[in-house]
Amino acid sequence: MAVTTIKVRVAEITELTPEIRAFDLVPLNGTPLPPFSPGSHVVVHVPGEDRVRKNPYSLASSPWEQDRYRIAVRRIDEGRGGSVGMHERVRWGDVIEIEPPHNLFAPDRAATRHVLVAGGIGVTPFVAYAHALARDGVPFELHYAFRGPEHAALLDDLAAASPGALSTYVDDDGTAVLAGLRERLAGQPLGTHLSVCGPAPMMDAVLGLARELGWPESRLHLERFALDEAPRLPFSVRLASTDEVIEVPAELTLLEALEDRGIEIPYLCRQGICGECRTPIVDGTPDHRDIFLPAEEHGSALMPCVSRCARGPLVLDL
Ligand code: FES
Repeated sequence: MAVTTIKVRVAEITELTPEIRAFDLVPLNGTPLPPFSPGSHVVVHVPGEDRVRKNPYSLASSPWEQDRYRIAVRRIDEGRGGSVGMHERVRWGDVIEIEPPHNLFAPDRAATRHVLVAGGIGVTPFVAYAHALARDGVPFELHYAFRGPEHAALLDDLAAASPGALSTYVDDDGTAVLAGLRERLAGQPLGTHLSVCGPAPMMDAVLGLARELGWPESRLHLERFALDEAPRLPFSVRLASTDEVIEVPAELTLLEALEDRGIEIPYLCRQGICGECRTPIVDGTPDHRDIFLPAEEHGSALMPCVSRCARGPLVLDL
């Protein structure tokens, strides 16, 4: 499966916080970029020292702006190199490749009102949400927590898209946003949906509060990211159809190692969320790091974009 890409030029780079940069990407020949829906991401082909990394980033601009996409990238030094590559190698005027937008975090269209809660870089999808909900006249409120004033990103974009809807919290551990939300979540009319994006502990705490207040699961939505934080060790896999053995070094995902050998596995998120890269196994014990695969399938498949090998030999049904 050949991956379709779009060439874009980096028209502007903005330091939003000490760790987060915004990149404004424009089409090369004035051809409009594909329209997208709020919550969409693009996979960016990030130039690296020795290889291209494919990293997903939420689109943080208006869905109706087809002459510019904005993404915001938080530098993670202990990551696998994609965000560092964006910060260190991508310069103003560069031409880079992105994949067309996909949406794994769309707002529920049945909602008559939205409460949006973001922590840190998790605010990025809510810029497009704010534009779309404001345009459609759907009421919403956006609660945004960050570690300190210097870590607040995209405030101007949010204020422009959602005047009056934004509440901010300086919050290191979720205490302030939870205190502010208790009353707000308790008093929402039926038909309100809650969407949360940010660090896992904050999302768990906010969703826990909503459940405590009686919110049904059908009205709770979340987007997780940065799942691949556990230590990575090298391992090898064998392909059942050919007996070919593929080494997966610590710095690569299994998906990247397969791609390097010309084996194309479909993907959307590359973060263990969407399920698109599900690959059957015939032997071995995976180290499952995704949040998609149900426990009853843990012995028969894995998500190679994040999962690794717990005990080998790991044999893939490929
Ligand atoms: S690409 Fe989404 S789970 Fe692997």
